[in-house]
Amino acid sequence: MVLSKDNPSSAEEFMDSQTHSKLPISSILIIIAMQTEALPLVEKFQLSEDKKSVFPKEVPWVRYHGIYRNLQINLIWPGKDSALGVDSVGTISASLVTYASIQALHPDLIINAGTAGGFKAKGANIGDVFLVSECAFHDRRIPIPVFDLYGVGLKPALKTPNLHKELDLKVGKLSTGDSLDMSAQDEASIVANDATVKDMEGAAVAYVADIFKVPAIFVKAVTDIVDGEKPTAEEFLQNLATVSAALDQAVTQVIDFISGKCIHEL
Ligand code: ADE
Repeated sequence: MVLSKDNPSSAEEFMDSQTHSKLPISSILIIIAMQTEALPLVEKFQLSEDKKSVFPKEVPWVRYHGIYRNLQINLIWPGKDSALGVDSVGTISASLVTYASIQALHPDLIINAGTAGGFKAKGANIGDVFLVSECAFHDRRIPIPVFDLYGVGLKPALKTPNLHKELDLKVGKLSTGDSLDMSAQDEASIVANDATVKDMEGAAVAYVADIFKVPAIFVKAVTDIVDGEKPTAEEFLQNLATVSAALDQAVTQVIDFISGKCIHEL
């Protein structure tokens, strides 16, 4: 950011963000793509579903909200696709809900939680929960200088050294694409991204969070081993419920740690 007297609004925004990071976090936005992942957390935090949506009436997005340990929690699930009735997974819904939720709810911090494929060659096992250090895309290949980097869309997660120390979670890089399976080209990009886990939302949430300078963290639990023997879809469905329980336990630990702290203390 350029700070100068010719650019007072950036200077004000900069000062604002500095002051803000010194106040205790009061509002958290949790974005979760699948109902199976979201509902145990809704129970755990005793959140209520919105009676009157803050979102346009046409969208299937569901907001659950409440107070937990002095934190205003908004959990957004993009809901079921209105034509097909399945969870609205993937980067399009993820970026739309992130944008609309930031506009409507002005969170201090975003947590994108969900399941992911893991690479055993990089140390991932079924049921591991990862705190993500950075996110990038693996299916936006634009082989033109600089557009190539735009396609990869690398964004660091908020640095949370104290959270890492406190919780027993693995740390790894996340690669995002709009497919559950992995083509040979995706694989080459995932290797180039040095990713340990692969999902369908993280880098999209990171892109929008970065635009609005909302700090974001990513908690991803491994349902399937991408470089293993079992077919991905089968292994994913087999492990979804149990791994969602591990995910929800980790998200609860993360939120318990956050309670009463400022961004710079995480
Ligand atoms: N979510 C869970 N497993 C996944 C995989 N293998 N790829 C993308 N997203 C996932």
